[in-house]
Amino acid sequence: YLREHMHQHIFLIGMPGAGKTTVGKALSKELNRDFYDLDLTIQEKTGKSIQNIIIYDGEEKFRQHEYDAIRELIRNKPSVIATGGGTVLSEKTVQIMRNNGIIVFVNRDVTQILDDLDLEIRPLLKESIEYIFRLYEERYPLYESVSHIKIGNESNISDTVQAIIEALP
Ligand code: S3P
Repeated sequence: YLREHMHQHIFLIGMPGAGKTTVGKALSKELNRDFYDLDLTIQEKTGKSIQNIIIYDGEEKFRQHEYDAIRELIRNKPSVIATGGGTVLSEKTVQIMRNNGIIVFVNRDVTQILDDLDLEIRPLLKESIEYIFRLYEERYPLYESVSHIKIGNESNISDTVQAIIEALP
């Protein structure tokens, strides 16, 4: 018999820095699927950076780009798609994902996210630490409620990938 996920896309959701792209790439290799990163797809399609789209066109326009990109990507054969941290903020985008695939919440402790960020952006402003904590608190219940599966990405990538594969329907 075919497992349910075989004909569905797998969408990875979660906070910036949770590891959606890294986990998604490894998962796609393991499942022998194509991998798409939603931010990259939008940048390639528009020829603009995500930052510029958000600053000059506005967040609402960006959320529409996310919806449009997903609508196009789901026409491909079942793939693994890493979304952006805010993709789930749009209800219609959540709907199109739920109608066409399995949503996996890649969770990573906020202190771990901050530790990793610290290596890249140093010194991190106090404001941005507070901002990330607030974002995490605001979004956590949303990530939980829209996802089919929740997996902690706390130790190493291959453990996370195996945990996702085992949890797939
Ligand atoms: C965003 C997260 C980013 C990107 C955009 C907005 C957000 O993606 O889509 O900057 O609202 O959390 P990552 O989660 O891949 O960083």
